[in-house]
Amino acid sequence: KPATVTCTAPVNIAVVKYWGKRNEGLILPINSSLSVTLHQDQLKTTTTVASCRSFQEDRIWLNGKEEDINHPRLQSCLREIRRLARKRRNDGDSSVDVGCLSHKVHICSVNNFPTAAGLASSAAGFACLVYTLAKVYGVDGELSGIARQGSGSACRSMYGGFVQWIMGEREDGKDSVAQQVEPESHWPDLRVLVLVASAERKPVGSTAGMQTSVETSNLLKHRAESVVPDRMKQMIEAVHKKDFATFAELTMRDSNQFHATCLDTFPPIFYLNTVSRHVISLVHQYNRHYGEARVAYTFDAGPNAVIYTLQQHVAEFLQVVRLVFPPDNNNGKTFLTGLQVEPV
Ligand code: DP6
Repeated sequence: KPATVTCTAPVNIAVVKYWGKRNEGLILPINSSLSVTLHQDQLKTTTTVASCRSFQEDRIWLNGKEEDINHPRLQSCLREIRRLARKRRNDGDSSVDVGCLSHKVHICSVNNFPTAAGLASSAAGFACLVYTLAKVYGVDGELSGIARQGSGSACRSMYGGFVQWIMGEREDGKDSVAQQVEPESHWPDLRVLVLVASAERKPVGSTAGMQTSVETSNLLKHRAESVVPDRMKQMIEAVHKKDFATFAELTMRDSNQFHATCLDTFPPIFYLNTVSRHVISLVHQYNRHYGEARVAYTFDAGPNAVIYTLQQHVAEFLQVVRLVFPPDNNNGKTFLTGLQVEPV
């Protein structure tokens, strides 16, 4: 009879972006980053891991389709969790499930949002995988360093609320871990809206994109060395103080600089489309109208806008968005294919 564990992990949306690695294998970044982890209820991955003596081999199904278990990053996570479990058991930790340790696992993972549309599916996916495997084997404690080896941004989804990924300095990556800056209860009226401009797969994945950026963009080097360190400090302070205007400006500037480094990459990478640019203008117009930053946008490696705002502005801003982007006056094509309101 298999031992079965099911867990969910939410997506996180960076406000200071991670872009570029100093070590590809260990997934060590060239700068620290900071994100907000969403609530469990909407954009999430659900993973079930079954462990059984009669399983012949490890297997994985993603969104109902069997995938290659030999994917190097998947193997890193499996290996590291099993290594940790063995180490804990040898150190005398009685919560480690000795029976399970030698068994193979079957993993089933489903997202409730479009994969690879720049909506951080790999972050929720690897965070959930590592967390669920850890539960199967009975290990707890610091696991973000393992999730990081699945996908860099995944380490931040191991915690709720406001989370920083400290880049670390060590060659072995032991100090490159996520840390909670504030819990989700800290800023209860902060809201996240996802404006879906396209649910298509992105043309250049983050892994390949950031590799080319590291190789070719001087702007990225400048950003990592001279911009992000101060910005991290300012962002953490804005979060501590719940200073929305500062939080919003830093978030928009950081998204813009990230997309500028993509343009500075050779050949250039374009993640934003016409809808994205319209959303950017709209947000600036809206804020200018009120003479203060009430709304902020940020874009990952895709055209979908993620909007940060406060609860008291959500209804009005959504009304404006629906006016500017009516769902179906675009020759039958949907401009905004979806609209989700995410309580943070
Ligand atoms: C633009 O974590 O997907 O979303 O480490 O190669 O798996 P890998 O990359 P990934 O990159 C995320 C990039 C980003 C910014 C961010 O989330 O910080």
